[in-house]
Amino acid sequence: MPVKQELNWYKIIPEIDKIVEENEFKEEELLEILHSTQEFIGYIPLEAQERIAKKLKVSPARVKSVISFYNHFTDQPRGKFEIAFCKGTACYVKGSEKIIDRIKNEFNLESGETTEDGLLSLEVVRCLGACGLAPVMTINGEAYGLLNPEKAIRIIEHKIKKASIEEVQMK
Ligand code: FES
Repeated sequence: MPVKQELNWYKIIPEIDKIVEENEFKEEELLEILHSTQEFIGYIPLEAQERIAKKLKVSPARVKSVISFYNHFTDQPRGKFEIAFCKGTACYVKGSEKIIDRIKNEFNLESGETTEDGLLSLEVVRCLGACGLAPVMTINGEAYGLLNPEKAIRIIEHKIKKASIEEVQMK
């Protein structure tokens, strides 16, 4: 289920305006504008898309289509740990489907979603380019290979545990 996140639009709108202005209000700079916006907010919500469209004088549908086209962009909040699990041929043959199902069940998560606590998000993707290590997943870009369901769950749980210990230590 997507995370409900309160956004401070009083801060966000001026920042978006600044980003668009820095890119000279040019539609050709839309990718750069979206990149900076996502870096600032963490994702590109509908309201931000509409603001960008207004400032660039293009339709919101144009902005949305670019976001949908590039995997890098998302209009949904992502978790602290972004899991990309490969379902490419090599990984599929070696049982990625079973591991993905286990992750979904264990963390009550579907592909494209983020857990309610905001810790995990899951994307099922095509080849991650590490077929020799199939089945493979990445967590925040770091690759973990030769997985089985138990190993994958252990790695994810370890990440969550480590994050909560670090959080306690920072308090
Ligand atoms: S098919 Fe999974 S990494 Fe290539």
